[in-house]
Amino acid sequence: MKTIAIIGTGTVGQTFASKLITLGYEVIMGTRNVSDKLASTVKDKYGNPPFSQWFAANKRVKIGTFAEAATSGEIIINASEGTNSINALTLADAKNLSGKIIIDVANPLDFSRGMPPCLVPELSNTNSLGEEIQKTFPDAYVVKTLNTMWCGLMINPNMIGGGDHTNYICGNDANAKATVIALMNEFGWRNENILDLGDITAARGMEAILPIWLRIWSTTQNGAFNFKIVS
Ligand SMILES: NC(=O)c1ccc[n+]([C@@H]2O[C@H](COP(=O)([O-])OP(=O)(O)OC[C@H]3O[C@@H](n4cnc5c(N)ncnc54)[C@H](OP(=O)(O)O)[C@@H]3O)[C@@H](O)[C@H]2O)c1
Repeated sequence: MKTIAIIGTGTVGQTFASKLITLGYEVIMGTRNVSDKLASTVKDKYGNPPFSQWFAANKRVKIGTFAEAATSGEIIINASEGTNSINALTLADAKNLSGKIIIDVANPLDFSRGMPPCLVPELSNTNSLGEEIQKTFPDAYVVKTLNTMWCGLMINPNMIGGGDHTNYICGNDANAKATVIALMNEFGWRNENILDLGDITAARGMEAILPIWLRIWSTTQNGAFNFKIVS
């Protein structure tokens, strides 16, 4: 049975963990400090219940430091805060990421000036978080995908429109992308709705979808939507 490591304990990490367990995977989530995370009774920045509450109800999920999670994981999912993803993955340690696929679903959003957040200038337009992760960890296979939608849809596309909407993917390694597509098929994504945009530089465009995504969400107050490419 494959072990998947999730770097990140927020809603996205929890959503992946629950789904992957139902699909029969072993899951280990990574955090900066395990005892602090499990002791905390503070709601997250979106007002969701503390991680400890979710963790108590999901007993098959394991938890460790970022490095312990990355050591155990055969595939790594980066579901950490985008502005701190390089730090989180650095704590996971390059040697534990070497030769492994990093599925990057994070967005480099800066919330420091309130809502809506903006893309971090150094990680947008002529750069992206996906590229920065690939540059920082050249021995890993970074595959960017699923970052353009609410996490409930990432693992359950059939929730809306019969699953007939578009998910983008990019990365430098064809085999890594094929492995990630196979995993997404298990989530319910059909191949005709997975659009391969090429190498990791396509992450610039994928992350740039966020400003319009956020605007639509604030207008409709509904995150369960997606785009479909029609031609
Ligand atoms: N919410 C969605 O539906 C959605 C959709 C698309 C993409 N995304 C992206 O998915 C990612 C995860 O989102 P989320 O809302 O689940 O969680 P989040 O609050 O953005 O990130 C939580 C994780 O980031 C880690 N973190 C925070 N500051 C850190 C630092 N200074 N150094 C290292 N790690 C740090 C936390 O570590 P600890 O565990 O130690 O606290 C935690 O594991 C984000 O990049 C977001 O943009 C979210």
